[in-house]
Amino acid sequence: MSHEPVNPHSTLSISILSGKGGVGKTNLALNLAYALYRANHKMLVMDFDVGLANVDVLLGVSPEKNLQDLLKPGVTPADVVAQVEPGGFDFLPAASGVPELLELDEDMRDSVFTKLNTVLGEYDYLIFDLGAGIGKTVLSLASMTRMRILVVTPEPTSLTDGYAVIKVLKNQHNITDFLVVVNQATNTKEGQLTFDRLHGACKRFLDLDIGYLGVVHTDSNVPDAVRRQVPLIKHAPKCRASQDILSLAIKIGRFRAESKPLLAQKAILKKITNA
Ligand SMILES: Nc1ncnc2c1ncn2[C@@H]1O[C@H](COP(=O)(O)OP(=O)(O)O)[C@@H](O)[C@H]1O
Ligand SMILES: [Mg+2]
Repeated sequence: MSHEPVNPHSTLSISILSGKGGVGKTNLALNLAYALYRANHKMLVMDFDVGLANVDVLLGVSPEKNLQDLLKPGVTPADVVAQVEPGGFDFLPAASGVPELLELDEDMRDSVFTKLNTVLGEYDYLIFDLGAGIGKTVLSLASMTRMRILVVTPEPTSLTDGYAVIKVLKNQHNITDFLVVVNQATNTKEGQLTFDRLHGACKRFLDLDIGYLGVVHTDSNVPDAVRRQVPLIKHAPKCRASQDILSLAIKIGRFRAESKPLLAQKAILKKITNA
C-alpha cells in the first residue's frame, strides 16, 4: 500500500450497500478496513445490518455491548466500540435480532450519531456496513456518507436489485455519486462487462453516470477466511481476492487524499450528524 500524504483532520465516511444479500458487503467492508489499517489509517467499521449482525461473526468476537446499548443513557462510545486490532482498527457492533431496531428511526439515528460525534473525528475512515435492499435505515445512512460503494455480482438478480438501490437513492434522496465493486467475478473482463451493463441501465433510464471502483475475483480463500473468522487479507494476503481488495483500498486512499476541501472534519461530521 502506498502512504499518500493525507490531511490528518479529514474523515471519509463510506457506506457499503447492495441490492441483494450475500454478495460480499461485510467481507469487503472488513477487508478494506484491514487494508487501510495496515497502511496506518485509523478505521471504524460500523455494523448497521441491524437484525442480521455479522461483522462480529466474521471476526470471531462476541462484543458485550452494541449499537442498541448506545441508545441507553450513560452508555458512552468507549463502552460500545470494540477493538479489532490494536492502534486503529475498531468496530461498532450492530444490535442483533432486535425487532424494534430492524429499522433505525430518525430519532434513534440522531441520538446514535450525537453520541458518536465525540469519537468519529478521531478516525480517518468510517465504514458503514449496511443491510441489503432499500429499507429506510439503509437509504438514510447511505445518503449520509460521503462515498457509497455498491457491491454487485455478475448474477442478473444482483444487478437488477443493485440498479433498484441506485434508482431509489437518486429519485428519493438526490444522490448521484456511486462507486461499483463487482465481487465474485470469474475474470477481469466479466467484472468490466457487469459494470458496463449496470452503467448502461443507469445511463439509459436515470441519465446517470456511475463509477467503477473495480473487481474482486471469486476466490476460495474468502469462504476459508470466513470459516476461520479472520479477515481475508490477514489470512491470505497474497491471494487474488486480497490483491483485488488492496487495489480498491489504494484507490479509496487516493480519493481521500485528493478531496481535502470536501472532507474537512467539521464538514463531514456535520454531514453525518445533520443529514
Ligand atoms: N470474492 C469472493 N469469492 C468467494 N466467495 C465469496 C467472495 N465474496 C464473498 N464470498 C462468499 O459470500 C458469502 C457472503 O459474503 P458477505 O460478505 O457476508 O455478504 P453480505 O454482507 O453482502 O451479505 C461469504 O461468506 C463468502 O463465503
Ligand atoms: Mg453482511
